[in-house]
Amino acid sequence: MSGFVEKGIIRVHNHVGPDIWLMQIELPRIAKEAKPGQFVHVKVNDPRYILRRPISIAGTDAGRGIVEIIYRIVGKGTEAMSHLKVGDTLDCLGPLGTSFDMDKDHIVGIGGGVGIAPLLYFGQEIVRMGAKPTFLLGARSESDLLELEEFCKLGRVLITTEDGSAGEQGFVTNHSILQHERFDQISTCGPNPMMKAVARVATELGVRCEASLENMMACGVGACLCCVEKTTEGNLCVCKEGPIFDVKRLLW
Ligand code: FES
Repeated sequence: MSGFVEKGIIRVHNHVGPDIWLMQIELPRIAKEAKPGQFVHVKVNDPRYILRRPISIAGTDAGRGIVEIIYRIVGKGTEAMSHLKVGDTLDCLGPLGTSFDMDKDHIVGIGGGVGIAPLLYFGQEIVRMGAKPTFLLGARSESDLLELEEFCKLGRVLITTEDGSAGEQGFVTNHSILQHERFDQISTCGPNPMMKAVARVATELGVRCEASLENMMACGVGACLCCVEKTTEGNLCVCKEGPIFDVKRLLW
């Protein structure tokens, strides 16, 4: 089994949006080994919820041994998690899965919704490498843009909103930057329809594109086959072969 099991103390737990929470957990081994795009598989200390939940890593501070996650309440397990207090512990398995390719010079991170969490970590890593990341973030409305201040601290932020309340009106795929600037790679996370649209635009532009898949998971380590995705190489487990995939490998 890959990853480490650590019972981490919760150091920060803040409500950051409708049903959305940000948590910082003391997980020194995971913080040291994690890479952008990977996830932790968390289990609340409650016998009613025996299954772990996969949650993308939104950032690490290896020096302080901190892992940050952002999650949305989507069921009873995450609802129970939202009631945890600073000082409580959370059982985490990780870091799991594959990571973003950070090897290109000019990468744009495109995201929407709560799925933007891996992009924050991706941006932190680009800054650590001495470069300035570009983000293209989409939302229904300005008030739905998560962690905007944090993104702005890291690099250049471009925005689209469906109602035009911030940035260019429309969807991320319509933003003028994609036609006016040449990127070496697009890294995308968020809702599947958005990522599929981003993948289509990337293909049209001839730009390599990586997507972070969020298939339903149970074991998180390639044993139960509940997270399979159809790919050009057959059915692959997203928890083990992903969650980051070059979109050319996906049958989208
Ligand atoms: Fe069990 Fe992926 S979650 S194989």
